[in-house]
Amino acid sequence: MNVLEALKARKSTRAFLDKPVARECIVRILEVARHAPSGGNAQPWQVAVVSGEKKEALARATEAAFRQDGVSGMDYNYYPLEWQEPYKGRRIACGIQLYESLHIGRKDKARRLEQWVANYRAFDAPVVLFFFLDNSLEKGSYLDFGMFLQSVMLAAVEEGLATCPQAALGQFAPLVKEALGYGPGTVLLCGMALGYEDKDAAVNSYRTPREEVESFTRFFS
Ligand SMILES: Cc1cc2nc3c(=O)[nH]c(=O)nc-3n(C[C@H](O)[C@H](O)[C@H](O)COP(=O)(O)O)c2cc1C
Repeated sequence: MNVLEALKARKSTRAFLDKPVARECIVRILEVARHAPSGGNAQPWQVAVVSGEKKEALARATEAAFRQDGVSGMDYNYYPLEWQEPYKGRRIACGIQLYESLHIGRKDKARRLEQWVANYRAFDAPVVLFFFLDNSLEKGSYLDFGMFLQSVMLAAVEEGLATCPQAALGQFAPLVKEALGYGPGTVLLCGMALGYEDKDAAVNSYRTPREEVESFTRFFS
């Protein structure tokens, strides 16, 4: 698969087969992704690969924390506190698409909640990756990290694997850092579900739309 094909094939996957991912496969993905560029070649990425009982225990703890107190403890604001257009509308449309794929009605709060909670189990993917950044670093390193994350996802496509980057997995940073031994000097950026796509799952059946190039590009000469 070439890069263009991989860019188009990558999508957020929210249901996975109950099939383990070989450690060598994950290492191959990270060996490629580490070639991502970073300002000053700082390479700010730190990755925790979590599977098996450790993953299950963390998912249980996160889900319990959410059900008890709601969301608390993200190290940074991933989303704006108040959404403005056109981003607000796009975000709502994205949610509608997700729920429609699962035939969850607009007023079905219970099923919506359960679909959200599935985030904390990384949608039952066999592997979850957590991404950390040293908090002495600045916004530039967030840019670098984004390139690393996309590199991980494209390399996963090449390995026949599917991913879902998840800000939701950054919502309980103290709990995750404590469980995995990362100190308060680190920022938990997000998590990522990794596994083999369940191609029969309805939730994986839709693709999100994109704006046309002309809408976000201006040419000057
Ligand atoms: C950094 C980041 C965090 C995200 N967090 C979540 C999340 O917590 N839960 C989720 O279901 N999707 C999450 N997504 C997936 C987006 O909803 C998805 O990328 C977007 O709708 C475009 O769809 P596509 O990835 O299938 O192309 C996240 C994406 C990114 C890049």
